[in-house]
Amino acid sequence: MIRSKITQRERSDPPPRRHDTDASCAWSLILSAARLARNAAWLLDHPLALRADPDGRVSPVDPAHRSQADLIWLPRVGWRAGDRAADRAEDCRDEDQARALFDLYLPLCRPHPGPVEVIAHLGQSIDGYIATADGDARFVTGEANIRHLHRMRALSDAVLVGAETVAADDPRLTTRLVPGPNAVRVVLDPRRRLSTERHLFNDGESATLLCCDRARIRPGEQHHGQAELIGVPVVSERLDLAALLSALAERGLRRIFIEGGGTTVSRFLQAGRLSSLQIAVAPLVIGSGRLGVRLPPTARLADALRPTTRIFRMGEDVLYDFELNAGAPEPSADAIPQNTINEDTIAQDVLSRAELSRIR
Ligand SMILES: NC(=O)c1ccc[n+]([C@@H]2O[C@H](COP(=O)([O-])OP(=O)(O)OC[C@H]3O[C@@H](n4cnc5c(N)ncnc54)[C@H](OP(=O)(O)O)[C@@H]3O)[C@@H](O)[C@H]2O)c1
Repeated sequence: MIRSKITQRERSDPPPRRHDTDASCAWSLILSAARLARNAAWLLDHPLALRADPDGRVSPVDPAHRSQADLIWLPRVGWRAGDRAADRAEDCRDEDQARALFDLYLPLCRPHPGPVEVIAHLGQSIDGYIATADGDARFVTGEANIRHLHRMRALSDAVLVGAETVAADDPRLTTRLVPGPNAVRVVLDPRRRLSTERHLFNDGESATLLCCDRARIRPGEQHHGQAELIGVPVVSERLDLAALLSALAERGLRRIFIEGGGTTVSRFLQAGRLSSLQIAVAPLVIGSGRLGVRLPPTARLADALRPTTRIFRMGEDVLYDFELNAGAPEPSADAIPQNTINEDTIAQDVLSRAELSRIR
């Protein structure tokens, strides 16, 4: 039976359960880990341990005392759940519990040595459609997957969509369902067909870049509504994705999350520019409509993509997380600037103090 998202959404919120608290503590820890990797990577040259209080406040603990830690950073190994988190997760049955969140998001919370990391996501029906033929895509997947999108926005420098998604959905692309920062919003609109009336171009909620064929920018023109215009060379009627990613990296945008639609994700995939592809499959049959991934025909199954995959339950949906750059170098201590850890900088609130010391 095809479920009704409206019915799901209209249900009143259940009272908080213990694993809700655990999930929100886990998310605080993940945000802290991501901010450390992004803003104070030099601290990760040494082992580090974090714990979260029930109110979500994250503080450092002595890495030698693992029983007190929720999260441990080991150089050359990465983030690991501490004994305390494992104990707390023991009696949880929900897929949203701390351990599942750690598994899914902690790989994104390490300094990465490459110039740019591109992760794409599509939510599709079990028969492969991301929207109806008329462009109705609200909501293919359920609440847990939508919350995942907001988490991915919070962990990314930029969230990117194609012009047709903005035309169909007029999205805001901000982080609203979980605590966390907004990403810079990036729209690919090579022909500049989108009006300045769209949310993204005038709501001022987060910085926005409109990337178009550079020939479409008039001399001296810098903005489309409030969005900054980025001119990109066009090759064979498509934006040159290498040039696009360089332009984003120049602006400090190194982790890019592509949220759709199918055309945009497929072009990055075909160009070999995706580090990973997340496809959330919903128990929904649309029958026809707008397809998700589309690639040129392959004659032999042996030539089809069959990447290493991690699988996560999200409510009724299943998220397949395809690893596409298995050969990429692992982050190493060499990638992290060598500094001496200063106990003062992690004495109270590891994030604000670390960032403060970085700014100083
Ligand atoms: N279920 C989901 O996960 C999900 C997510 C997002 C959107 N959606 C739905 O999917 C539909 C939109 O998806 P879509 O596949 O039709 O379109 P889309 O990917 O949103 O946008 C495609 C357009 O973006 C521009 N574009 C993207 N990459 C480009 C490149 N490399 N070079 C040049 N131009 C590029 C082109 O604009 P021009 O046409 O101007 O050349 C292209 O036609 C909507 O109905 C939306 O609601 C679903």
